Amino acid sequence: MSLLITGGTGFIGSHTVVELLALDKDIIIVDNLANSSTLVLDRINKITEKSVTFIQADICDRQAMQQVFQQHDIDAVVHFAGLKAVGESSAIPLSYYHNNVSGSVTLFQVMAEYGVKNLVFSSSATVYGENNPSPLDESMPTSATNPYGQTKLMIENILFDLASSDEEWSIACLRYFNPIGAHESGLIGENPNGIPNNLLPYVAQVAVGRLAQLQVFGDDYDTVDGTGVRDYIHVVDLAKGHVKALEKLSKIKGCVPINLGTGNGTSVLEIVNTFKDISGQEIPYKVVPRRAGDIATVFADASVANSLLGWSAQYDLSTMIKDTWRWQSKNPNGFE
Ligand code: NAD
Ligand code: UD1
Repeated sequence: MSLLITGGTGFIGSHTVVELLALDKDIIIVDNLANSSTLVLDRINKITEKSVTFIQADICDRQAMQQVFQQHDIDAVVHFAGLKAVGESSAIPLSYYHNNVSGSVTLFQVMAEYGVKNLVFSSSATVYGENNPSPLDESMPTSATNPYGQTKLMIENILFDLASSDEEWSIACLRYFNPIGAHESGLIGENPNGIPNNLLPYVAQVAVGRLAQLQVFGDDYDTVDGTGVRDYIHVVDLAKGHVKALEKLSKIKGCVPINLGTGNGTSVLEIVNTFKDISGQEIPYKVVPRRAGDIATVFADASVANSLLGWSAQYDLSTMIKDTWRWQSKNPNGFE
């Protein structure tokens, strides 16, 4: 039996593949390389001394997806494939709805056609919208403030409807908080295209000298030091959460949303100072006005993941930042 990993050459997908290979699972990656490269496959091989089957294909391509299911005996799918840049999603919303929503519907249809009804889906804490107080728990109302967030919410709602229509489906909707860090080998990590949107890759590129200065988006929030607070989680912890979700899928009936976060909040300036201490590099920064759509504080109630999956995050902030720095300093230009 094999596992299909869509988007498996991406940041979170590649770390999850490493954890799954350690369990001796047969892995088939489908990725269209829109935001990744096959260079990551050599790195995965170096870390695990195992190889995967890689198929360059788009999840929107029904025939290609049918071929994957025809040629392989797949029993579960971990679905990472998607576009994820919030700003870009407002500029080209139709591309996001097509790629993320239509692509997911095509994938789910092909899964149903081949009788594969076990799914782990990459959702996001973004589905909690702007109005819920932290700690965020899975019973809270959901909403979205941008097209990217809408795609995650729509896919979740499609999965709830699908699971209610057919009780054979077992679906874990994993709502990630802020994944950072990298594999401890320094061989794989986050490799954003162009100027990073997210805090950690931006800070890492300032530390390594690729970018001159961080802009801190607001220091007048009601938080410990006025800067935004988020729940940063090590990508390897996140990857292990997928392994647990796959192990427990047979016990999951229907579609269940599950937060993957640490339950702790860290401010922008706490990140900057910890990064500076660990890397020994200066991180010049300037405070600028708040970024539209940001809220003061976001962190998880991670108790469902603990009770349902037997999972909780293990890595602390300093390990997350050490691993981010090792990856960034060993690979200043990503995988190239
Ligand atoms: P990533 O961009 O590194 O990985 C996504 C992968 O999907 C890439 O390799 C890309 O080439 C591939 N892909 C995109 N569209 C595709 C398509 N139509 N067909 C086949 N492959 C396609 O992103 P990531 O950070 O690893 O995120 C993985 C998933 O987790 C995404 O769905 C993302 O929305 C979700 N997520 C990410 C974060 C985060 O902060 N990184 C937070 C919450 C949720
Ligand atoms: C962002 C997205 C969210 C997505 C998440 C993970 C927005 C509005 N939200 O969330 O939908 O799910 O990434 O991909 O884009 N910051 C700076 N300077 C920077 C970058 C960030 O000060 O250059 C601050 C932000 O204001 C925030 C914190 O750092 O307080 C974290 O930002 P970021 O990494 O972008 O994550 P989120 O805001 O949680």
